[in-house]
Amino acid sequence: ATDDADCQRRIIAAKEKLGKRLVILGHHYQHESVYRHADYTGDSLKLSRYTENLDAEYIVFLGVHFMAEVADILSRPEQIAILPDLAAGCSMADMANLAKVERSYRELNKVLNFDEQITPITYINSAADLKAFCGEHGGIVCTSTNAPKILEWGFAQREKVLFFPDQNLGRWSGYKMGIPLEQMPVWDPDQPLGGLTVEQIKNAKILLWKGHCAVHQMFRLQNIEKFRAEHPDGFVISHPEAPFEVCQHSDYVGSTEYILKTISDAPANTKWLVGTELNLVNRLAEQMKAEGKLVQFMSHVVCECSTMARIDPQHLAWVLENLVEGKVVNQIKVPAHEAKLAKLTLDRMLAAS
Ligand code: 13P
Ligand code: SF4
Repeated sequence: ATDDADCQRRIIAAKEKLGKRLVILGHHYQHESVYRHADYTGDSLKLSRYTENLDAEYIVFLGVHFMAEVADILSRPEQIAILPDLAAGCSMADMANLAKVERSYRELNKVLNFDEQITPITYINSAADLKAFCGEHGGIVCTSTNAPKILEWGFAQREKVLFFPDQNLGRWSGYKMGIPLEQMPVWDPDQPLGGLTVEQIKNAKILLWKGHCAVHQMFRLQNIEKFRAEHPDGFVISHPEAPFEVCQHSDYVGSTEYILKTISDAPANTKWLVGTELNLVNRLAEQMKAEGKLVQFMSHVVCECSTMARIDPQHLAWVLENLVEGKVVNQIKVPAHEAKLAKLTLDRMLAAS
């Protein structure tokens, strides 16, 4: 994303003209050049809660596709959710799709009774039809904030959980609940019986979908060891999408909102290594300088979420100027039958968290 002054002026002018008819929601991974225009910012859970209670006619989402879908599902039917660039997807969300989840359902039914023995839980980073699948099969949605609590909800319904699409969030949350790693095998949806034996499936508590976030996958234990050697008094904080050993060797693990809050509330002059997306870390590093806090990015390779970065000032100016002219572009509209079932799972999550 570039920070072009003319574009910035166009965004401000269009926002002014639209007034209360418009609300802009921004995820913490958004580049500063658009993030500064958000009326509300947050992690996925916080932003979901906002979308339930907004009065604006238009909800412009600075984030990725599944987030705009959630905004559409949780807002009132007459409200319009807009994603400035339709190509802003989430590569992790794309690692699960309905065909693969339905095939997994059929495969698991060869060994046990899915609807009696397995609660399907989808991370909010997933398409609306997967949330609808969970709605139809007694399942629920979770976010990085509430995953352990939602897993408990899942186990209160049925003895096992199928968790998709992020194996890292599932494994870390299960581990925090005291579930042994051998009872959390990886389910490969492209293999017969998920690539597992009947015995492994019967012993499993959580079947972890073979999916991950390419951005968080870049963080390594060596990055932590190097930081600890250089700053023995420093702290390490990571997002639960990071690899298991990175979470295990971090002092704190939590959502983007949790990371921001923990470092913001920490004493002056503390030192932090942060395992989450680059835009968030850069912004925080800049803000914390005044308090003498050192905020360092975990990887030596640049890992920006390339799809989040698609939302740039040009796209934002374009959608807003169209709205000023009474034209809606890039609306995200989840089909009614899917939206109804997906809303059921999101409401279950909001009630349980
Ligand atoms: P949060 O809900 O923690 O903001 O995470 C969303 C996400 O996509 C992380 O990669
Ligand atoms: Fe998806 Fe990873 Fe980007 Fe988050 S950081 S939106 S999980 S690709």
